[in-house]
Amino acid sequence: MLYTNVKKRFSILSKSDKLNTSYPITPSHWKDYKKDCELEFTEKDMCFYLHIPFCLSLCKFCEYIKYKKPEKELQQKYINILKNDITNFISTHPNINLMGLDIGGGTPTCLDDEIFEDLMNFVKKLLSKTKLSKNFEPSIESTFLTINERKIKAIKNAGLDRISFGIQTVNKKFLKDNNRQNPTLNKMIETFSLCQKYNIKKINLDFMYGLQYQTKKDLQNSLALIEFFRPSHVTLYEFRTNILNIKEYKTKTQLFAQYKYLYKQLKKLGYHCDFGQNTFSLDKNDLGLSSYLKNRMINFTSYKGFGISAQSKSNQGISYNIGKNLTNLEDCIKNGTFCSQDTYILPKNEMLAKFVAVSGYFGKIKLDIMQQILNENPMKYFENEINYLLLKKLIKITNNQIVITPKGFKHYGAVLAMFYPNNCME
Ligand SMILES: C[S@@+](CC[C@H](N)C(=O)[O-])C[C@H]1O[C@@H](n2cnc3c(N)ncnc32)[C@H](O)[C@@H]1O
Ligand code: SF4
Repeated sequence: MLYTNVKKRFSILSKSDKLNTSYPITPSHWKDYKKDCELEFTEKDMCFYLHIPFCLSLCKFCEYIKYKKPEKELQQKYINILKNDITNFISTHPNINLMGLDIGGGTPTCLDDEIFEDLMNFVKKLLSKTKLSKNFEPSIESTFLTINERKIKAIKNAGLDRISFGIQTVNKKFLKDNNRQNPTLNKMIETFSLCQKYNIKKINLDFMYGLQYQTKKDLQNSLALIEFFRPSHVTLYEFRTNILNIKEYKTKTQLFAQYKYLYKQLKKLGYHCDFGQNTFSLDKNDLGLSSYLKNRMINFTSYKGFGISAQSKSNQGISYNIGKNLTNLEDCIKNGTFCSQDTYILPKNEMLAKFVAVSGYFGKIKLDIMQQILNENPMKYFENEINYLLLKKLIKITNNQIVITPKGFKHYGAVLAMFYPNNCME
């Protein structure tokens, strides 16, 4: 009987096109947990995320909160509020142990040179007066069209040694239709050699699959670029439409086939990655992730997000900064702070679902972290679900982790959702 129930649930979930690594699936799902207060942090170990929501142009396929880069004055006001929010947080949490820091967006490097330097100088000071964990490895997102020598120098000077550049695709029609311009090969060559000059240790290139018009030939062109530059890391993003008003371009089977192809080819080029993971690394002892992502995804370490729309997580729950619902930039700036009271104090089953969802990027879910969240043995708590998934060879259990198998990865959204509350789709 129980077997029939889990089987039926899996069959329903595997037909849904809404499941990926985002959670909750419908924003209203958490409405009963909403509390009018700021999220509290009592834990010492945590990560920071700084959101710079500006871009040179806005790509239609992008699901992040971003605005066309405003004039200088507004950029500086944004950075001043961000710095103020961080300073206030640090002064009320003086004993934190910083496990990771990511500066993302948008495109942080699209800020004007002096404003970008101002931000990097602030980050340098922040890192000099904060306790940093042993494996602390900060990272920043960029694009080749927004980077220059002055910015690379400022990045290095701030103590950042990992830059992630987005390429996405080299399909000219898609780029044009989606309002995106990619760099020339010369600009890329110049940037790689500047990164070498300033000894930036890790360079990651982001690519996407599942895009409109994306054929095997396009994927081959992206792979040729990877072969040419041999960046230390490559990250593959499956196209998501959660907050976009467009339909997926590819079926789950087509997405799986594209991932499988890219995985095989990247392995041939010497990159390491377990099947199902999205970051590939030339060094087999390095997962290729910044310490922010590593801690957030694998260990569910708490994180505080600064800037418009940034998400935070503590042991209590999740909160979102202002601007999540695409509020006008000027209104957000007038507010004087981006920290907000859009807070959800979550019961353990919802915290668990959030953890399982983010672990999806990694393809593995740590059982000891599940135990910590549930305060119960996950193998018992999810006994029927785990037995069903094992029986169907969709997961295996190794090294105290639930590992999604290649077969399971074909339906990874449904596999992850077997650990979500029953009403998660309502
Ligand atoms: C915050 S974006 C910033 C990157 C940078 N601004 C750029 O344009 O390359 C980080 C990454 O998210 C990925 N991304 C953007 N939109 C996405 C979507 N709809 N689905 C999946 N991944 C997406 C892209 O690969 C992108 O490089
Ligand atoms: S993909 Fe990058 S450049 Fe394009 S809109 Fe998103 S954040 Fe901006």
